[in-house]
Amino acid sequence: MSMVERVSHDVLVIGAGGAGLRAAIAAAATGARVGLVCKSLLGKAHTVMAEGGMAAAMGHVDDRDNWRVHFADTMRGGQYMNNWRMAELHAKEAPDRVRELEAWGAVFDRTADGRILQRNFGGHRYPRLAHVGDRTGLEMIRTLQDHAIHQGIDVHMEVTVVRLLMDGGRVAGVLAYDRERGRFKVFSCGAVVLATGGVGRAFKITSNSWEYTADGQALAYEAGAELMDMEFVQFHPTGMVWPPSVKGILVTEGVRGEGGVLRNSQGKRFMFDDIPENYRNQTADSEEEGWRYTQGDKSARRPPELLTRDHVARCIQREVREGRGSPHGGVYLDIAWIKERIPKAQDHIKKKLPSMYHQFMQLANIDITTTPMEVGPTTHYIMGGIRVDGDSQMSTVPGLFAAGECAAGLHGANRLGGNSLSDLLVFGKRAGEYAARFAAEHPGATVSNSEVDGAVAAALSPFERAGSAEQPYRIQHELQDLMQDLVGIVRKEEEMRRALDALQGLKARARDVGVAGNREYNPGWHTALDLANLLTISEAIALAAVERKESRGGHFRDDYPDKDSNYAKFNIVMRKGSGGEMELERRPIPPLPQELAGIIEEQKS
Ligand code: FUM
Repeated sequence: MSMVERVSHDVLVIGAGGAGLRAAIAAAATGARVGLVCKSLLGKAHTVMAEGGMAAAMGHVDDRDNWRVHFADTMRGGQYMNNWRMAELHAKEAPDRVRELEAWGAVFDRTADGRILQRNFGGHRYPRLAHVGDRTGLEMIRTLQDHAIHQGIDVHMEVTVVRLLMDGGRVAGVLAYDRERGRFKVFSCGAVVLATGGVGRAFKITSNSWEYTADGQALAYEAGAELMDMEFVQFHPTGMVWPPSVKGILVTEGVRGEGGVLRNSQGKRFMFDDIPENYRNQTADSEEEGWRYTQGDKSARRPPELLTRDHVARCIQREVREGRGSPHGGVYLDIAWIKERIPKAQDHIKKKLPSMYHQFMQLANIDITTTPMEVGPTTHYIMGGIRVDGDSQMSTVPGLFAAGECAAGLHGANRLGGNSLSDLLVFGKRAGEYAARFAAEHPGATVSNSEVDGAVAAALSPFERAGSAEQPYRIQHELQDLMQDLVGIVRKEEEMRRALDALQGLKARARDVGVAGNREYNPGWHTALDLANLLTISEAIALAAVERKESRGGHFRDDYPDKDSNYAKFNIVMRKGSGGEMELERRPIPPLPQELAGIIEEQKS
C-alpha cells in the first residue's frame, strides 16, 4: 500500500472526450470537488472523429424542424429499440446545449443572416447539423477544454483505470496507474462517471485510435452493472481504404451532405438500386432531385447516399464483394463532380471540407477537388453499452454513472450521424449533475485496502510471466481479425459460434500473457491490461449477436436478413453471473407514452 498514491474527489470522471468534459463541468458547477482522468492527453478524444456536426433541431435552415421531428428521426434510425426517454430528452435539450457551447466560445459556420448554419446528414429529415467545416468535434473539444480548465477541476492525464473499487454494493473509488511511470493511484470518491468512449480496437478496421479498448464497458460489467444492446455496432460507410497505414480513418458523412456521391467501378450510382421500404417516400428518385436537396431545395427529397449508415455500408460491401469495387477494395466517393454544377467548386470544397482536403492530400496524395476518393466501411461506434437510467444516467450500480458512447440507450439499433456530439453534451451534463448530487447525498464510502492490494497484484501479474510465449500484441491482432471477419458487418450463426469458441481460446491465452521489462514506459504491459477489456466486450458483442436472430440497424444477419417483429419487443441485457459467467436476458422495452407514440405516427409520412 505504501507504493500507492491516494487522491480524493467527490466526483471522478473517467474519460475526457465530449461527454467526460461536459460531465466534469456540470459536476464542478454544483461545487463538488471533481477529478478528470484521461487515458491519453487532455483533448485527444474520439469526439474529434464526429467531424460533420452536432444534431440539434434549431430550425435555422429549415423552419419545419423541431424537437418532435428530431425525436421521431432518432427513433426511426434506432429502429425503435431506443430508450425513448433518452431520445426525448436529447431532442428537447440539444439546441440549448449547442447555444451554450456557442456562448463558451465555439465557432460555427453561419447562415447568410448570421445564425448557426446546419447541414444535411443521413436519416435527419431536415438540415440539422450545426457545424464548423468538417472540424466540429475538434471545435467542441477545444471549447469544452478551454472552459473546463477554469472550473477548478483536477486533471489527471495519461492515467488508466484498471478496477472500480466498491463499498458494499456502491462504488467508492478506482484503482489506476500512470502510463508514464507505472505508479498506482487510488482515487476515492462519492460517484464515478464513466465516459470512456467505444470499443473500436476490438476490430481490425476502425476509425478509433488506440485508447478505445472498451475500458468503461468492461469496468462497469466487472463491477456488476448491466450492459445492453451490445450486438449493435456501427460500421461507418466511409473510411479511407488506401494506403494501408491509414485504412479505417474516417471520411466524414459531411462529404455526402455537401453533395458527394458514391459510384462503383462502372461509374454507377449504386445507392439508387436498393432503397429500404421505410425510407422510400423520403428518398429522391433521380440524381437531379438528390442534388437539389443538398442545395437546400425544400421540395426535394434526400439522395440515397444519405440513407442510414448501416444500409449505406452494406451496399458498399455488396459492390465490393460482387466485383464492382475500386482497386483497393472500396468504392468511389466523388465530391469533385460538383464542378459541373457550381462555380468555383474547388474553393467551395476546400472551405466546406478543409480537413478532408488535407487528409487525402497528405495521406494519400489525392486532391479531392479533382479526383474521387476510395472509401469503404470502418468500425466507428457502438450503440450498446452500459445500461443507464434515462434521466440521471446512473447505471444499475449505485454511484456509477455513464455518458456518451460507453452508455447504451439513446441510439437504439443504429445511431444517426451527428447525434453523437449532441448526446455527449446533453447526457454528459446530466451525468455530471446527478453524480454530484449522489455524492453529496451519500457520503462516507470507503475503499478497502485488501481490494486495492488484490487489484494491484492482478495488474502486475503479467510481469511474473515475463518468459511466457504468449504476447499481448499477438492476441490483440488475432482478436481484431476474428471480430472483423466473423462478427463484422454481415453476420452468420455458424461464424459467430466459431468466434465465440475462438474467444474462449484467446481468453485462456490472455491469462498466460507475459511482459518483459519494468513498469516505466511499457506499452506491452498497457496492452496486456487493455486486452482483458477487449476480450470481455467482444464476447458480449458476439453472444448478443447470436441471440438476436433477425437483422435490425447495425446488426445484420445473412441467415436472418429481415426484421422480425418479435425481436422488436426487447433489448438484450447482460450481466456478470455469480459464477463469473456472462448472463443474458431478453428485457422487454417499456411501452411508449401516448404523446411520444403520437409523435412517431404523425412523423411517419
Ligand atoms: O461522418 C462524420 O462526420 C461522423 C459523425 C458522427 O459519427 O456523428
